[in-house]
Amino acid sequence: MRKNIVAGNWKMNKNLQEGIALAKELNEALTADKPNCDVVICTPFIHLASVTPIVDSAIIGVGAENCADKVSGAYTGEVSAEMVASTGAQYVILGHSERRSYYGETVEILEEKVKLALANNLTPIFCIGEVLEERKAEKQNEVVAAQLASVFTLSAEDFGKIILAYEPVWAIGTGLTATPEQAQDIHAYIRSLIAEKYGQEVADNCSILYGGSCKPSNAKELFAKPDVDGGLIGGAALKVADFKGIIDAFK
Ligand code: PGA
Repeated sequence: MRKNIVAGNWKMNKNLQEGIALAKELNEALTADKPNCDVVICTPFIHLASVTPIVDSAIIGVGAENCADKVSGAYTGEVSAEMVASTGAQYVILGHSERRSYYGETVEILEEKVKLALANNLTPIFCIGEVLEERKAEKQNEVVAAQLASVFTLSAEDFGKIILAYEPVWAIGTGLTATPEQAQDIHAYIRSLIAEKYGQEVADNCSILYGGSCKPSNAKELFAKPDVDGGLIGGAALKVADFKGIIDAFK
């Protein structure tokens, strides 16, 4: 069964002490008022081992924002999927547009990362989405179809373990949000591609999150669309009131 999920992406924000404080505050808020959806927080690597023991794992999942495309060895500065999993984290964001554009992550690199994440029992939150010029040229469908190549080599069983996040790059951190109709159209298209590749049941069971300037004021309308199964939240995940406001869109 498809799940509704609200996942936070802290990006490169919060030092360790601030991150711990944010996780504690969120945990308190969600234990007092239980969410009606799965909640995940994806934090910088250095926070993971400290944050996993302080959140109630029945309410909040924890994830990394990236992992290496190699198993282990002489890759200075990299963090492997196995290392992420050893902190108690259960998720990892892969293919975020910031990783693709600033760090040159390609379809092939991301395919390796997804496989290593799955091999270490991490749930990838795999991001796809077009840039503004591509949207203006009405190429968004082509772009997401090409990006899905990284995960379309998986078996149906493994594909069933991943979460997708559609994030139009022009909406990330810009205050511009896709309209609920724009989100629904492309989410339905993404689901149709999954159905073509893996069959309708796998497609129906896949959670597809929307990301890009999602906030308490627009979350309800976006999540009300039949193919939008929640959100991947950047800026608004850094304040408990905002993040909880988005989580409460499922109430
Ligand atoms: P934003 O970021 O909510 O700040 O737009 C979303 C994301 O990049 O995951």
